[in-house]
Amino acid sequence: MRMLDIITKKRDGKELTREEIGFFIKEYVAGHIPDYQAAALLMAIYFQGMTSRETADLTLAMAYSGETVDLSPIPGIKVDKHSTGGVGDTTTLVVAPLVAGCGVPVAKMSGRGLGHTGGTIDKLESIPGFNPFQPIDDFIRIVKEVGVAVVGQTENLVPADKKLYALRDVTGTVEHKSLIASSVMSKKIAAGADAIVLDVKVGSGAFMKSVEDAFELAQEMVSVGVLVGRNTIAIVTDMNQPLGMAVGNALEVKEAIEVLKGEREGALKEVSLLLGAYMLYTAGHCRTVEQGCEMIEEALHSGRGLQKLKDMIRAEGGDERVVDDTSLLPLADEVIAIKAQQSGYISSMDAYSIGQAARLLGAGRSTKEDAIDHRVGVVLHKRLGQRVEKGETLAEFYVTREDNLQEAINVFNEGIIIGDQPPQPRPLVYGVVTRDGVERW
Ligand code: URA
Ligand code: CA
Repeated sequence: MRMLDIITKKRDGKELTREEIGFFIKEYVAGHIPDYQAAALLMAIYFQGMTSRETADLTLAMAYSGETVDLSPIPGIKVDKHSTGGVGDTTTLVVAPLVAGCGVPVAKMSGRGLGHTGGTIDKLESIPGFNPFQPIDDFIRIVKEVGVAVVGQTENLVPADKKLYALRDVTGTVEHKSLIASSVMSKKIAAGADAIVLDVKVGSGAFMKSVEDAFELAQEMVSVGVLVGRNTIAIVTDMNQPLGMAVGNALEVKEAIEVLKGEREGALKEVSLLLGAYMLYTAGHCRTVEQGCEMIEEALHSGRGLQKLKDMIRAEGGDERVVDDTSLLPLADEVIAIKAQQSGYISSMDAYSIGQAARLLGAGRSTKEDAIDHRVGVVLHKRLGQRVEKGETLAEFYVTREDNLQEAINVFNEGIIIGDQPPQPRPLVYGVVTRDGVERW
């Protein structure tokens, strides 16, 4: 088999066989296929697409390209969740402890931030002492003892995705449904959970900009999950504005703790509770999603979710006192208010721009080698559709250095549009995709 023939076949719009896809992944991971040939194939896939069968074969070849995690020592049905990437999207820190508080074990491997989106591992590392890089044995032990562990992916989990993602990032081939589906689902399959709940983001701050594309991506991922025997459900949720009010690592941990304490309402809480209900449902812990909602709310109100977060932080080496006293989290001392430049209704609060602004302040990376500043970020005071008066505070920036500050302010302001009329309200949740099909809300 020759890589050149595989590239030209896809370039000409033909369907690749399982053997051809398997050959590409195996030889690329082994270092026998150069990046320029892999990049050419990715671009051919980007333009010609893949059938569901090809996507499933690609996903499986990737999933088994390295080590896989065996969660069978943990009794019960293990459930995982994954977001396709958003801004102010701190649902994992809220929902994982709540689901564990309902008695369903959560064994989750998370990633770092990509581009303008945040990553759970970076957020957790803002907790003093927290070490997300637990050996597999400790990961399993913590899930058994505490009921929940969120850890970083091990070095050798899906090496095919590590190489391909880095290449996609620099060749303009990230935003493709088959490539995103195989990237996400290969990692979920390798990480070993029995049930998977996906949060597919759509909007300006997401990789999928249109609702149609987001539903198609959700369908691809659900069908691959079901094909390999993992009960998989996807919900499609809005990412036109940040989900929570905080964008930045320690700031997002603080907000998640406040949601778990019952001190905060809003979109972050709503989406977290819904994801939690679906996690209980896919794990077979309740007969209906409505019942799942009741259970999750009970875990919130009783404080059991908050206690699980504390237990997890302690088990992973962190200072669990941050839960009772969030001032122990590292936050920048300098806080700058960003004011509305005119009066009116907020008709755009672009999640992409706000994510970029936070990244410029130091909350994210511009190159893979950059260090993150956990103390910085953006706290929104307003949401889409709200009325503001000129001079009112739209957001606060937590800053530790001045060099990119003006650019961050400019990028933020470009994402905010204040109009005379309130905008059309947008749904927070667009619908659900299960093995039985699409249900639009
Ligand atoms: N998240 C991933 O893990 N992979 C993608 O391709 C996009 C988002
Ligand atoms: Ca402090």
